[in-house]
Amino acid sequence: MNDSERIDTRIDAGFGEDLDRAGGQAETIGNEETMPKDDTLATWAPASWRDRPAQHIPRDYPDLEKLGAVESQLATYPPLVFAGEARTLMARLGEVAQGKAFLLQGGDCAESFKEFHPNNIRDTFRLMLQMAVALTFAGRKPVVKVGRIAGQFAKPRSSPTETVAGVTLPSYRGDNINGMEFSAEARTPDPQRLMQAYMQSAATLNLLRAFAQGGYASLGNIHRWMLGFVDRSPAGERYRALASRITDAMEFMAACGITPESTPGLNSTDFYTSHEALLLGYEQAMTREDSTRPGEFYDTSAHMLWIGDRTRQLDHAHVEFCRGIRNPIGMKCGPSLEPDDMMRLIDALNPHDTPGRLTLIARFGADKVAAGLPKLVRRVQSEGRTVVWSSDPMHGNTEKAGNSGYKTRPFERILAEVGQFIDIVDAEGAHPGGVHLEMTGQNVTECTGGAEKISAADLSDRYHTHCDPRLNNEQALELAFLIAEKLAGAKT
Ligand code: TRP
Ligand code: MN
Repeated sequence: MNDSERIDTRIDAGFGEDLDRAGGQAETIGNEETMPKDDTLATWAPASWRDRPAQHIPRDYPDLEKLGAVESQLATYPPLVFAGEARTLMARLGEVAQGKAFLLQGGDCAESFKEFHPNNIRDTFRLMLQMAVALTFAGRKPVVKVGRIAGQFAKPRSSPTETVAGVTLPSYRGDNINGMEFSAEARTPDPQRLMQAYMQSAATLNLLRAFAQGGYASLGNIHRWMLGFVDRSPAGERYRALASRITDAMEFMAACGITPESTPGLNSTDFYTSHEALLLGYEQAMTREDSTRPGEFYDTSAHMLWIGDRTRQLDHAHVEFCRGIRNPIGMKCGPSLEPDDMMRLIDALNPHDTPGRLTLIARFGADKVAAGLPKLVRRVQSEGRTVVWSSDPMHGNTEKAGNSGYKTRPFERILAEVGQFIDIVDAEGAHPGGVHLEMTGQNVTECTGGAEKISAADLSDRYHTHCDPRLNNEQALELAFLIAEKLAGAKT
């Protein structure tokens, strides 16, 4: 790295001490706990992943020089998040690890250029907050809200190619790489798509920040929508009791003078972004050195990044990249993960046991979680390590619906996996800290079941996902209520 490049990147990540402190939340932003200076990072650099084997990163760009040029240009663009915000999230997740808060992470399986619309962003945001209200109230703990949004584009695929009617083309890999349409042209990776993904992420995040801080997230608003759900949903009766207790609590507080007008904390919220750190060329381009803490690098494409179950090989590129960035990191844990390998990954990703640095996201399937998860939790406990335990009840419960060809997920199995997750983690003496969901505020028909009893035959009505089936608005809210009931009963 030459000197002029260094100056550019250092200005970008931390945004300079003065601006950072002047940013409204002076006491929290930029001052939160951070990881200690780290000698295990002596060999790390934003590009050190390039020397490692890498799964699921496309190499079939027709013009690799053009890809490099786009990445270089992105490296000069503004960061989407600040280092200080990532540190604040790390501290909040540290509270989750200690059982003092709950993590709600959710959004599309894959964002797309086609579904980019303010209403979609608004509806996902609103849904997350409605779920958060139920979870906060029932669990009596703050909920840390993290969207799978503003950057969740790239997808690992089980096969590099797809064959339709005798024609074989590269698989669709996400809108930041190629197009979904089944044509040779659309399926050819195009570096320009990275630019569009960046611009869409920036605009999405801008709107989310406005929603979170501009009054839209007021507790009164969110609760009014919640009452609407209770009136509309076939399962509404079941939730009316919880909803009216929230109404009572709010009316009592208002009588005491605690209203969104008098109490800014009720009027706004903190909303963080996350996506899978899959396409490392893009992530590297967005990685900047913090101007307030030289030597510390943050991936400024999102507050939190996670490593997928298919790319968590210890000596491969994705782990190499993620171990060096200072953001909170997630790692998906599926049935193939053994405790010894898990410990080696924990040592690589969180060598100093910083609370909030590492979230382990269990994705086993309702039929496998009881066999696979207890030994992992037990081992983390016996080694005295600190992680956030979160449940992804989506990816282990995917199936083909009859012979329709649609991928779906039965609501009952999703619920069953979360329920078992809470019991297992609790029984091992750790904290069931969160959930990680694929969901949308739209009224789609992609997962079966729930109070509206969506059947396999209904799936074709509104099946819009660009990748995996998502919970729709009603299903996601219903799930939040059921988790809330469960958390209220469990001693978490
Ligand atoms: N600021 C608090 C929080 O984010 C309370 C709050 C305001 C809230 N609006 C909200 C909580 C919407 C959940 C949803 O937790
Ligand atoms: Mn998915």
